[in-house]
Amino acid sequence: MLSFHQNAAANSACVVSLESLAYKILRIIAGMELLDEFALERAAVVANNRMNRERRVSGVNSYTRELGFDPVDGLRAAIRRREPFAWLDMCCGRGRALLSTFELLTPSERPSTILQGVDLVDAFDPIPAEATGSVTLEAASVHRWQATRTYDLITCVHGLHYVGDKLRFIFLMASWLKGAGRLVANLDLGNLRSTEDGHFARRVRRCLLAEGFSYDARRRLLSAVGPLRHNTPFIFVGADPNAGPNYSGQEAVDSYYRAISP
Ligand SMILES: C[S@@+](CC[C@H](N)C(=O)[O-])C[C@H]1O[C@@H](n2cnc3c(N)ncnc32)[C@H](O)[C@@H]1O
Repeated sequence: MLSFHQNAAANSACVVSLESLAYKILRIIAGMELLDEFALERAAVVANNRMNRERRVSGVNSYTRELGFDPVDGLRAAIRRREPFAWLDMCCGRGRALLSTFELLTPSERPSTILQGVDLVDAFDPIPAEATGSVTLEAASVHRWQATRTYDLITCVHGLHYVGDKLRFIFLMASWLKGAGRLVANLDLGNLRSTEDGHFARRVRRCLLAEGFSYDARRRLLSAVGPLRHNTPFIFVGADPNAGPNYSGQEAVDSYYRAISP
């Protein structure tokens, strides 16, 4: 005979396997196979040479244009206040936004600046010798990378489109902000989906606003100021790499969720 704990464990294992079976059936009905994050990283929509990894900090193809503000302004303002400035750029592409920022800094501004980039693909531009103490570019997946410090600015420019559990990653980035630090990321809410709820994007938007994020629907920019300590109330089910183009005009990944409580 099973003990109470063994029974509870068996029951919960049974519920979990029934749930995953239900999701498998739904996926088959919908004609799509949802990928986990490891499989997603190998999918053609993520691992390709067609996407724009070249944006610099300013100019025509730039972060200033995509974000609607120039990151160098905030950096200089901090240095004028004699405060060091740390910028983390997730899904940084070739790292050009950070490297071109470093080029703009005067020799006296450089020691107060930390410019850190992370991207799945190791296609980074070379880091000049004089920038080695200030700029780091790391090949890693945002699905597993963890910050070991806090930041004044965190950007994710057209990177969320390719991430599996976008909501977990958004909440994680917000938790890495300093007191007045700023997070800005391009987000198409249409890439957040649920097999249970046809209005899931609206529900997510309400949830993000309630948690302290702001969302500029015209520019499709999600932002936050200061660290947010909460976590997503939605469970990642899988990613659809065949979602097609989103507002950016590029092929993107739909992320599927279910709510922890209905
Ligand atoms: C459209 S590019 C944007 C690059 C850069 N932010 C820019 O604007 O120049 C999207 C980037 O996300 C990266 N990426 C996609 N999935 C990733 C993951 N799981 N972890 C880290 N980077 C990822 C891609 O390698 C690519 O460099």
